[in-house]
Amino acid sequence: MAEKDFILKNYNKNFVGDKYSWSSPSNIALVKYWGKKEQQIPANPSISFTLDACKTTTTLTCSKKENNTDFSFEIFLDGEKKDDFKPKIQTFFERIEVYVPFLRDYHFIIDTKNTFPHSSGIASSASGMSALALCLMSVEEDVILDGDYSDEYFYKKASFLARLGSGSACRSIEGDLIVWGKHKEIPNSSDLFGVKYPFEVHENFKNYHDTILLVDKGEKQVSSTVGHNLMHDHPYAKQRFAQAHENLSKLVSIFKEGNLKSFIEIVESEALTLHGMMMTSMPYFILMKPNTLEIINKIWRFRQDTDLHICFTLDAGANVHILYPEKEAKEIYEFINNELVVYCQNGHYICDRIGFGAKKIS
Ligand code: PMV
Repeated sequence: MAEKDFILKNYNKNFVGDKYSWSSPSNIALVKYWGKKEQQIPANPSISFTLDACKTTTTLTCSKKENNTDFSFEIFLDGEKKDDFKPKIQTFFERIEVYVPFLRDYHFIIDTKNTFPHSSGIASSASGMSALALCLMSVEEDVILDGDYSDEYFYKKASFLARLGSGSACRSIEGDLIVWGKHKEIPNSSDLFGVKYPFEVHENFKNYHDTILLVDKGEKQVSSTVGHNLMHDHPYAKQRFAQAHENLSKLVSIFKEGNLKSFIEIVESEALTLHGMMMTSMPYFILMKPNTLEIINKIWRFRQDTDLHICFTLDAGANVHILYPEKEAKEIYEFINNELVVYCQNGHYICDRIGFGAKKIS
């Protein structure tokens, strides 16, 4: 599918408006997206586990307005008006207007809440943008006059719109493993939206756990937009993008065979490469904190001592996602609780696991 297939052409201009609610989860990348072209097109393919507990619930109220000159919207987070979110939504609306041309016909109230604390250092952009994109798709479903309107199209376009809000948000619509970005071995993979991982996945990877250790709850030092842009003139960009393709290829047989050791190697290498790219860009930066390294070293020691399949991954920040299989969950959770929680800010962490995507709330 191409961009033009997502343009809504005819719609019912007499629709007065309604209220829609969706909850959408966060996701954690195994092969990382870092570097993009115009219009949030990724420089390399990525794959993620969709999460379950970390999610955003958004209620969108739309009401027909008199004139259709400007975008008109208000945003609330946990019931509190958030004017500082407006520029991000304004940019999002500008980017998606060509695909959802009804935006200027309505006044929107965007009422949103996250299951995780706003200041936890967990990015809410993936869950937040995907929840909003889904609400807008529900509006589209009510104003559409003709055309093939399958569930498949609905979710594909939701992912397409979410991508234009925040790249990785396109991987949050469905679950449990989502690929975003064209890859030669993944049929129907696309730079425009996320697709479900289409091949066999071994039992070992079902119900995988992700315990998120909140090492630093502060504001991000570097926005992801700035970070992605630093890949443009990065001396190692070409090799990095090629490596992401290779790692995704390797994961295909790893997922099929249930090879946890090889999975760990790829996932940890991806996390450290992401941070390696940040440390070697110009300007350079370090987003890990001393406690991030303490946790990584403890995980490595514990893995060596026990042969259990615990590993870590990182986003563009200091928090550590600890990934482990269901069948080893009891011992690993005990270790986290006894030995790692001390490195978390105020002892805070979140127990999450692989999930199956967004849900409509009626
Ligand atoms: O969606 P963005 O633009 O915030 O970028 C997210 C990038 C990483 O979280 C670091 C990696 C990824 O693939 O999710």
